[in-house]
Amino acid sequence: EISFFFPKEQTLAVIKPDTSEEHRDEILEEIQAGGFTISQLQETVLSREMAEEFYREHRDKPFFSQLVDYMCRGPCTMLILTKENAVEEWRAMMGPTDPNDAKENAPGSLRARFAKDILENAVHGSSNTEHAQEKIHFLFGEISSGSELINAGDDEE
Ligand code: PPS
Repeated sequence: EISFFFPKEQTLAVIKPDTSEEHRDEILEEIQAGGFTISQLQETVLSREMAEEFYREHRDKPFFSQLVDYMCRGPCTMLILTKENAVEEWRAMMGPTDPNDAKENAPGSLRARFAKDILENAVHGSSNTEHAQEKIHFLFGEISSGSELINAGDDEE
């Protein structure tokens, strides 16, 4: 019998403020139904310094300070998601950055349903595995208390 080995991958997912308060449980259920394991979950309000560091790749963009303001406005839910091909699969579940694009091209996606505009676009996901590891280390290394392990097993019986 031939068997194939697909390595599990980790990605960082963030449910942004407002969306965290309004739709957190629904999104968490959808993530689990999608076959992701939620390896870590942390709800926290980012400081300005942390948000600026988190988005430092975008510091020269015209929307940078608005993006930082938005991300500090209330609690974010930070998740480490584990699955085969997790980075790509979580980005597919989120849909395109701009909700107008999402509504047209990925109507079932989280951003199509929950994003208000291109700034308040509901969720974040790492763009590749290197970024994922860097941001996971940054957020889950800094935030040491209160981490919670849910759905650690692969199977629900
Ligand atoms: S890039 O340059 O391709 O990496 O940019 P992109 O992935 O499209 O966006 C990076 C993050 O910036 C946010 N963004 C914006 N915010 C406000 N206004 C405008 N016009 C805008 N364009 C992009 C976008 O929501 C991305 O945030 P994250 O949290 O990474 O999804």
